[in-house]
Amino acid sequence: MARTRLVIDTDPGVDDAVAILLALASEELDVLALTCVAGNVDVDKTTLNARRLLDLAGRRDVIVARGCAAPLVGELDEAGDVHGVDGLGDIEWPDPLTPEGPEHAVDLIARLAHEAPLTIAAIGPLTNLAVLLARYPGVESRVERVVIMGGSSFAGNVTAAAEFNIWADPEAAARVFSATWPITLMPLDLTHQATLDDGDLAYLRGLGTEVGRRTAAILEPYAAYHDQWYGNRDVIMHDAMAIYELLVPEAIEKQGAHVVVETGGVHTRGETVIDRRRGFAASPTRVGVRLDNVRFVSFLRERLARYPLD
Ligand code: BDR
Ligand code: CA
Repeated sequence: MARTRLVIDTDPGVDDAVAILLALASEELDVLALTCVAGNVDVDKTTLNARRLLDLAGRRDVIVARGCAAPLVGELDEAGDVHGVDGLGDIEWPDPLTPEGPEHAVDLIARLAHEAPLTIAAIGPLTNLAVLLARYPGVESRVERVVIMGGSSFAGNVTAAAEFNIWADPEAAARVFSATWPITLMPLDLTHQATLDDGDLAYLRGLGTEVGRRTAAILEPYAAYHDQWYGNRDVIMHDAMAIYELLVPEAIEKQGAHVVVETGGVHTRGETVIDRRRGFAASPTRVGVRLDNVRFVSFLRERLARYPLD
C-alpha cells in the first residue's frame, strides 16, 4: 500500500489534537511533520502543544517545526476562549521530550515537497502556506493535494460571514485559494455534521489508555464551550474532517466549486465565497458537502482505540 506523505499544518487546538491523533494512528498516512502556526493560541503554544501530542501518541519520530507567528496583515485574534489559555483545554501535561526541529515550518514543507510529492492537511490559519507560495515559487507543482479545514458556505463562527481559520489571516487564505494546487475544502457546513457526544467522551475515558483519558479531558471544556455557544454539548470535529477525507474519501460527498476569499468587505472580511454553479463542477477545488456522522464516529473510535501504538 502506498502511504500518503503528509504534513499537517496546524494550530493545536483541541480539535486539531483529535485530528492529529487520528492521523498518527492510521497506517495509510506517513505523517512526516507537524508544522505549527499561530491561530487558536500563539505559535509558542501551538508548537509546544504539537510536541505534547507527539509524546502522547508515542510518535517522537515526527518532526515539529515552528512557523509563522502572525498573520500577513494585522494582529493575531486568538481563540483561547474556545480551546483554553494553553490551547489544549488547560489540563496538566508533562514536559514534552519530542524536540522542536531546527527548520522553519515553511522551509521544511518546501524541502519535503522537493524530496517527493507531498500532501498537506491545513487545519489552522493559512499563513505558513501563503509564505511557502511566496518564498518557493512553483512549489505548488510538488504538492499533490491540500486538504483545508476552513471557511463556510453559509454562516461563519467568528463573524456572521467568516470562519476562524480564514478570518485569522484572510490575505493568506486568498493567496492559497488562488494558487494552482488541487484543494479540497472542509467548510463549517460540513464539519458541523461531525460531532461527538457525551457517550463518545465516556467511551474514550473507558478505553483506559493515556490517549483515551487525555482526549476525553481536553474535549470536556470544549463541550462546555459548545453548550454555552450552541446550546448543546456536542463537540464539533472540524479539523478531523481534513484527515477523515484523506483516509476515507468516499465517506465525504464533495462538489466542484470556485472559492475566493473576501479580504475587504465592511461586514464580510474573511468570508469564503463558494461558487457552486455548474460551470465549476469539474473544478480541481472540491468542497465537502455531506457525511454520515455514525460512520465517522465509529471510525474515529476504532482508530483512537489503537493506542498505545505497536
Ligand atoms: C477551526 O477554528 C479553530 O478554532 C479550530 O481548531 C478549527 O481549525 C474551526 O473554525
Ligand atoms: Ca485548528
